[in-house]
Amino acid sequence: MRPATLTVHAGRPAREPDAPLNPPITMAATYVAGGDVEYGRYGNPTWTALEEAIGALEGGRCLCFPSGLAAASTVLDLVAQDGLVVAPRHAYNGTISQLADLESRGRLRTTLVDITDTDAVIAACDDAALVWLESPTNPALESADLARIIPAAKEAGAHIVVDNTFATPLLQQPLSLGADIVVHSATKYLAGHSDVQMGAIVVSDDELLGVLKGRRDLYGAVAGPFEAWLTLRGLRTLSLRVERAQDNARELAARLGTRPEVSEVRYPGFGAIVAPVFADEAIADALQHRTKLWAYATSLGGVESTLERRRRWRAEPATIPPGLVRLSVGVEDVEDLWDDLVQAIE
Ligand SMILES: Cc1ncc(COP(=O)(O)O)c(C=O)c1O
Repeated sequence: MRPATLTVHAGRPAREPDAPLNPPITMAATYVAGGDVEYGRYGNPTWTALEEAIGALEGGRCLCFPSGLAAASTVLDLVAQDGLVVAPRHAYNGTISQLADLESRGRLRTTLVDITDTDAVIAACDDAALVWLESPTNPALESADLARIIPAAKEAGAHIVVDNTFATPLLQQPLSLGADIVVHSATKYLAGHSDVQMGAIVVSDDELLGVLKGRRDLYGAVAGPFEAWLTLRGLRTLSLRVERAQDNARELAARLGTRPEVSEVRYPGFGAIVAPVFADEAIADALQHRTKLWAYATSLGGVESTLERRRRWRAEPATIPPGLVRLSVGVEDVEDLWDDLVQAIE
């Protein structure tokens, strides 16, 4: 089945008379003994349905987690003591902060790289235990040359992880390019409605899946069944949402490029995040309070358009331009989105 069909059909109950079309929300902390699950921390049928769907889309096997950062920390826990992690200097600031925290406690070492400099990234992978890629990056919107970096990092013997939150599996499938692990903040596009926190890890290797599931079982980063159900419910329309939001984003990126107040428009050519950089930081700041339709809110990937000046966060790297505003373009009518931006800029 093709991806758009998988978003609708993967993870459904078997078609039997009177079976529901959708998986139920199974609220269970324990199960009758003697089966495969036994306890609520070890498994849940609603998770399984969501995991089947995300796994099918990424071309691997999935484990869901209660947030993207819970998924990230579970992956980083794979790195042996003192191991080297290579990561984008402009990865999501929560990921960078996790790495900084682990490094400050002597757990691992990190090398932060400019992921647009492919040769430098490959050179940095030489004795890496794990290469963390995020492409496009949040919020700088830099793209990595995954097709070149992944095989080179593999040859160096590193585990390769790709945070695929921005692209979604509809626009980029890192496992098919040779990555070992895909991570998602399913809070964003996969769930798609800004009403649920969820994370996911997808791998193609069964042994690695077993190790990661063992970590989830033992350390207890487990998702709520209702949140898993909401995420799957949102996923059903992923293809329509991404298509519409991406059309809107392309149009807005082009129009923003014609505005004299905008010194640069960052847009990787796909996806639905656009980051105009305003020469005057004050305009970027004011925009947050002047839009009526766009919500001034962090996060991204919902049906509703949101924006924020990223440097308002102290953890955001100083190399992110102060006038950069991250637009998470939703599925509204693009003319309404544009009208609101223009009145706010003017
Ligand atoms: C690219 C990326 N990865 C990971 C995360 C963390 O996900 P969560 O907020 O679900 O923990 C985020 C959150 O903004 C993100 O943008």
